[in-house]
Amino acid sequence: MNVGGQHFRTIWLKPGDPRVVQLIDQRFLPHRFVVEDVTTVEQMAIAIRDMHVRGAGLIGAAAGYGMYLATLEGADLMQAAAQLKATRPTAVNLAWAVDRQLRAIIAADCVKDRIATASATATQIADEDAEYCHLIGRHGLELIHRIAREKQGKQVNVLTHCNAGWLAFVDYGSATSPIYAAHDAGMPIHVWVDETRPRNQGSKLTAWELGEHGVSHTVVADNTGGHLMQRGDVDLVIVGTDRTTYTGDVANKIGTYLKALAANDTGVPFYVALPSSSFDWSMRDGLAEIPIEERGSEEVKHADGWSKGRQVEVRVTPEASAAANYGFDVTPRRLVTGLITERGICAANEDSILALFPEHAPVAPAATATLLSPPGGCGSEAGDKSVASPE
Ligand code: MRU
Repeated sequence: MNVGGQHFRTIWLKPGDPRVVQLIDQRFLPHRFVVEDVTTVEQMAIAIRDMHVRGAGLIGAAAGYGMYLATLEGADLMQAAAQLKATRPTAVNLAWAVDRQLRAIIAADCVKDRIATASATATQIADEDAEYCHLIGRHGLELIHRIAREKQGKQVNVLTHCNAGWLAFVDYGSATSPIYAAHDAGMPIHVWVDETRPRNQGSKLTAWELGEHGVSHTVVADNTGGHLMQRGDVDLVIVGTDRTTYTGDVANKIGTYLKALAANDTGVPFYVALPSSSFDWSMRDGLAEIPIEERGSEEVKHADGWSKGRQVEVRVTPEASAAANYGFDVTPRRLVTGLITERGICAANEDSILALFPEHAPVAPAATATLLSPPGGCGSEAGDKSVASPE
């Protein structure tokens, strides 16, 4: 998407040097646009854990590239997979991408093929993420069109929470993709952007990317949504998700549940946009089963911003107060009007989801792929130290 009128993705292989993965370091947005070079799986694990990159789709793509770097380095692939998976617990795209890489890499015959396969698979994961988000935009656009027709061409107001924009994916975003599509089609659209304490992904990231694309938006404090909905100032809520069960329960950034309750009470449609990589095909009960990340209390006790030409951090609570920092909550399916996926829009229930994705029957949690034997068949490379040892 647009940064200063130039097209960017969030992650890519460095042109001319495919041993380097480049990514937008989101810790500095919206104040500074910083591109980070990542050359080891260790660095990629840190980039995910410390949220240089974040958002379900992008975490998955970064993990895919992380496995590629591990293959290049000759690291133990099972160890690399475990290291990447341990970085953040809630977004299911992470384990999905790592397992997809493992399955692909172990099918390759020799070290050279493994590297080529890991590179191709990382690129496929990233390209697919962008393509699926693009398709989500097309399907979501129909929804916005319908509302615009009902409003006889008056501005459509969408509320979104956190950042499920292109910064949370490789391109387009999930919740924002229909918004960009509507804006690009010339429809009058305005977005209420929840600031999303404690890390402020809404006021920092969503506001920045909407602004770069020229989309009209207003940042509001997190608690404002219910009031806006009661006044009739929200036509539609669209949020993203970090993990949605195959039965339709939705884990998303903390505070999403409260927006869904308010939307339900006021009759505002509440949609969740997601690529299929964010479905957990093994989980039935989101409230009971989805792991909720708890982050450090300092994120709640402090806020950061831009002052006098530099990024500064200040404490906003009494020093001695305890603080709790739950990263996500689960919105039960009964509060979700529909799911916008790359294959179309469906109701948030098992039958409708599996009707769109019939290849996914409920299964037990996917076992981590195991390297059964070292690769051979490419002559001298067999037995090279880059071959992960089977556990
Ligand atoms: O903690 P983050 O920033 O990685 O959280 C992810 C999110 O930005 C949101 O929960 C988002 O709505 C879903 S990710 C597409």
